[in-house]
Amino acid sequence: MPVPSARGGPAGTRVRVVLVGATGSIGVQALDVMARYPEHFELLGAVGGSRAEALLQAVAPFPGARVVLVSPSGPVPQGVLVGGDVACALAADPRADVVLIGGGGAAALMPTMAALEAGRRVAIATQEVLVMAGELVTAAARRHRAEILPVDSEHSAIWQCLRGEDPKDVARLVLTASGGPFREAPLETMRRASVEQALAHPSWRMGPKVTVDSATMMNKGLEVIEAHFLFGIPYERIAVVIHPQSALHSAVEFCDGTMVAQLGVPDMRAPIALALNGGRRLPGVVPPLDLAKVGRLDFQEVDAERFPALQTAREAGIRGGAAPAVLNAANEVAVAAFLAGAIDFGEISELVAEVTSSHSGPPPSDLTGVLAADAFGRDRAQELVAARSGRRLAAGGQRA
Ligand SMILES: NC(=O)c1ccc[n+]([C@@H]2O[C@H](COP(=O)([O-])OP(=O)(O)OC[C@H]3O[C@@H](n4cnc5c(N)ncnc54)[C@H](OP(=O)(O)O)[C@@H]3O)[C@@H](O)[C@H]2O)c1
Repeated sequence: MPVPSARGGPAGTRVRVVLVGATGSIGVQALDVMARYPEHFELLGAVGGSRAEALLQAVAPFPGARVVLVSPSGPVPQGVLVGGDVACALAADPRADVVLIGGGGAAALMPTMAALEAGRRVAIATQEVLVMAGELVTAAARRHRAEILPVDSEHSAIWQCLRGEDPKDVARLVLTASGGPFREAPLETMRRASVEQALAHPSWRMGPKVTVDSATMMNKGLEVIEAHFLFGIPYERIAVVIHPQSALHSAVEFCDGTMVAQLGVPDMRAPIALALNGGRRLPGVVPPLDLAKVGRLDFQEVDAERFPALQTAREAGIRGGAAPAVLNAANEVAVAAFLAGAIDFGEISELVAEVTSSHSGPPPSDLTGVLAADAFGRDRAQELVAARSGRRLAAGGQRA
């Protein structure tokens, strides 16, 4: 089982970081951690998607850091480099101790591969990368002896629970899920929920895409696939349970019946700091959890009728090959369509299931094959979005 080790950078030196997705929720929190521990971290460079001003503002406290925009949405200020190739070159910088992949969705695959092929340690928050190309990404890590450390709170929890344990003793991984804003909503209300309702996550503040994924529970499906690749555990031994308080971030069940869990406040800066610092803890990153204030910890089974996306993703993971890449691409398109008002909330999961089941073909043997599966998923999902919004317009209907 490829459980990441827990070593840091050379003692006494600062950890040199390249950050992909610097203007997003993960990126901003990572920069906050680095700014608070300047004696521990140095920002070598930062990559953003399209927003130049936001990127320059984010890196302002780190003079000297190189700044790259993948596809600028407007004029490019002086000093900002441009292009996906430049972002990949930055991710492969031999001086980097760790490359944090914290944004970009499927587009983060290229800088991740560039970093791994250069033997850099990768701290990964962007689930989409392992979902679409888990086999290739983990093979590249093995080939180049590069570590992949988890940042997602659930996978960080599992990583922490596994430290010092014999991998042979692991019986099951148990991922917890908050259940999002619709855990108890009437099914019809949920189906026609507004963007605002879907973005009102009860415990975590995150970017819009992952927040909608939490509301459909697609994010938990993506996390199951991510856990499979990060920890090398078969799908039938990765369970999901709803835990509304979001205090227990995940657990590992061992062969003797013991369960070890990790708890903490729902603040991504804790797992970000742990991964950036190579598994070594920094004092005072987040306030400690006050168990008496949490009061109680509830757990319940996932309602499969309410959250079909979880099963769709699990099945895609079990099918393997191109299926997870198709699923991921269809989901990115469907979530964007929902956020743009083109489809109903309930249609996200339907559309992703339809696209994923319509694909057949050999497993991708290289990145070109992964990108072809991604393109299939995107194109097919766009067609379905267009058909559904066309039907709605023809019926004179408005989205609720
Ligand atoms: N937020 C969380 O608490 C959380 C927790 C667990 C896991 N995750 C995962 O972490 C990832 C990032 O989530 P987020 O919430 O931080 O997203 P977000 O707030 O939407 O931020 C996305 C970031 O990616 C950048 N980006 C867009 N296109 C890019 C490209 N082609 N190449 C490189 N960067 C690009 C964006 O730049 P622009 O601003 O210029 O568009 C922005 O900096 C997602 O995969 C999510 O599932 C997030």
